[in-house]
Amino acid sequence: MAKEIIVSGVRPTGNPHIGNYLGAIKQFVKLQKKYTTYFFIADLHAINEPQDPKKLEEQTLEIAALYLACGLEPANTTLFLQSHIPEHLELAHILSTITPVGELSRMTQYKDKVASGKPANLGLLAYPVLMAADILIYNADAVPVGEDQLQHLEFARMVARKFNTRFSETFKEPKALIQKEGARIMGLDDPSKKMSKSATSANNYIGIMDSEEEIRRKIKIAVTDSEKNIKYNPETKPAISNLLVIYSQMAGEEIKSVEAKYKNKSYAEFKNDLVEVIIKKFSHIQRKYNALAK
Ligand code: TYM
Repeated sequence: MAKEIIVSGVRPTGNPHIGNYLGAIKQFVKLQKKYTTYFFIADLHAINEPQDPKKLEEQTLEIAALYLACGLEPANTTLFLQSHIPEHLELAHILSTITPVGELSRMTQYKDKVASGKPANLGLLAYPVLMAADILIYNADAVPVGEDQLQHLEFARMVARKFNTRFSETFKEPKALIQKEGARIMGLDDPSKKMSKSATSANNYIGIMDSEEEIRRKIKIAVTDSEKNIKYNPETKPAISNLLVIYSQMAGEEIKSVEAKYKNKSYAEFKNDLVEVIIKKFSHIQRKYNALAK
């Protein structure tokens, strides 16, 4: 039987962070051997927001090196730059002809970006259409993404269905591959919002390329909750729960077992160990990244 097809991408918008790693890239690495995979750098999506062309080029190479440093292997997967395959744009245009503008203007990410001051240009509005084309063109069965992309995946399924009904059975309806934990890493400075590359403060995220000192400093000042116990409960203890998810995902240890380990320990002790867990994983990636970047 033919292997299932998996497609996903990351935008080269700078500051790739631990949320991008846990929500997306770590999954890509795991999936590459078992499935036929296409992982790309979504540069066309990056330019929906203003970019300095020179920086964009650097950031594009950054994601390429990062993909390899995190463990994607060209022998097992297909890596490419979105803008090198013009058919993505051709299909996006065709899909746009059956997409009502009203539907796009109600998409959460579009509304949030415009509310935060990003220019409400046509590219940003049509973001989900290009994303649907990225996926449908490869007949993807599944798309590993973080939780914030669920609505865009739902749109891709819907537009595939619409096209198939109107013309003929052409596209597969792709499903979203969302991890149970790690699909929505929250901001370290504000656990009520997701960790984001475009956060106003760099204290919001741990960058995959952050130095040991930066990681130590950011975890030290990361917001915690009022009670002192280290317990997972996203409703009542959103800050510690977020740190527990990061610990568990980075160490490959169940949340329950991390909780048990820190039962009678302080936030400070837990945070110290969390720093070590992050550094252990990222220093390995950074070493490979630096060698490739040369
Ligand atoms: P980008 O670069 O914004 O995000 C890349 C991936 O990181 C995930 N992510 C997170 N996961 C967990 N916690 C977070 N705080 C967090 N922040 C981001 C995102 O969900 C994403 O999986 N639209 C895509 C790029 C794209 C794409 C595609 C993806 C373009 N075309 C086709 C899949 C298929 C994006 O959000 O990139």
